[in-house]
Amino acid sequence: MKMYLHYFILFSLLAAASTALVQDFCVADLSLPAGPAGYPCKKSSSVTADDFAFHGLAAAGNTTNIISAAVTPAFDGQFPGVNGLGVSIARLDLAAGGVIPIHTHPAASEILVVIEGTICAGLISSFDNVVYLKTLFKGDVMVFPQGLLHFQINSGKTPALAYVSFSGQNPGLQITDFALFANDFPTELVAKTTFLDVAQIKKLKGVLGGTK
Ligand SMILES: *[C@@H]1O[C@H](CO)[C@@H](O)[C@H](O)[C@H]1NC(C)=O
Repeated sequence: MKMYLHYFILFSLLAAASTALVQDFCVADLSLPAGPAGYPCKKSSSVTADDFAFHGLAAAGNTTNIISAAVTPAFDGQFPGVNGLGVSIARLDLAAGGVIPIHTHPAASEILVVIEGTICAGLISSFDNVVYLKTLFKGDVMVFPQGLLHFQINSGKTPALAYVSFSGQNPGLQITDFALFANDFPTELVAKTTFLDVAQIKKLKGVLGGTK
């Protein structure tokens, strides 16, 4: 029995050791392609303090576009220091009337904090399609679970600013309307698979650049 216990403890220690980090960080080497676990590491001798800082979120994104909104990412592709850490951040600018259309992040949960303005945000559960809606004011926080459809709308009369953090270094982004109407998905198949009218599909393809 005692022997068994010793083996058990030894095995537990080995199991724990096998998942322990063997290096402090893995700053992305952006000159090499990313794999499923992110980018390969830069040689630690060439890592500098600048790899751990990012200045690209100071300025507002350009909201002169069809959604009157801009997402400025600091994901692994922009911010090499987050590589391997399972975190990232982005800036959200929403002009009056702006919207981040309904979308998902396949690879991370999201947490949003409102810095300025008023944002109406919502998410939809996959289990039973319940819609969870909140109006968020300065300082308010909302969380969006990984993979679920969600959106943000500027519901105020002034520009809105928010920061969003992710539980992944590259959360991924799929905007539902772009997936349906901004590509060459044949109109008759979009109609068949969504039950939308052909006229509405053609209109949206026209706006978003879809063909067929
Ligand atoms: C913002 O984007 C619009 C549309 O692409 C462009 O015309 C305009 O010059 C941009 N503004 C700035 C400040 O870059």
